[in-house]
Amino acid sequence: MDEKVYINLIDEAFKAREKSYTPYSNFKVGASILFENSKIFSGCNIENASYGATNCAERTAIFKAVSEGYKIIKAICVIGSFEDFTYPCGICRQVIIEFAESENIPIIIAQGRDKYVVHKLKDIIPFGFSKNNLV
Ligand code: THU
Repeated sequence: MDEKVYINLIDEAFKAREKSYTPYSNFKVGASILFENSKIFSGCNIENASYGATNCAERTAIFKAVSEGYKIIKAICVIGSFEDFTYPCGICRQVIIEFAESENIPIIIAQGRDKYVVHKLKDIIPFGFSKNNLV
C-alpha cells in the first residue's frame, strides 16, 4: 500500500481526534479507516458518565462505516495521547477482525506524519476468533 495512503489516514485520524469527547479520562484518540471503494471513515472516542458506555475511536469509525453500507476494512490508523504509540484495545481488535479484508491489513499506529509504525492485523490479534474460523 502506498505511503501516501498512510499519510492521508494519519491526517484524518488527527482531525478525528480533535472531536474526542473525553471529560473523564482526557485521553483523546482518533481513528481513520480505509474501506472499499477508497472510502475513509474516521471516528473519535466518546466517553460517558457511566464509564462502561464509552465507545472507542476505532469502533466509532467502524460503526459509522457499517451503518453507511461499507464493511470491508483495508487499513486502519490510530492516534492516541500516550507519549509512546497507542494500540487498539482488545474489544476494538475483535471488532476489526470482524470486518477486515484479510489478516494482513496494515494497522498504522501513529504519533505524527513522520512517526508511525505499521503492523499486520494478525500480529496484534493472533489466533483471533472470526467468522472465517466457523466452517
Ligand atoms: N480508547 C480508544 O478510543 N481506543 C482504544 O483502542 C483504547 C482506548 C479510549 C477509551 C477511553 O475514552 C480512553 O481511550 C481511555 O481509556
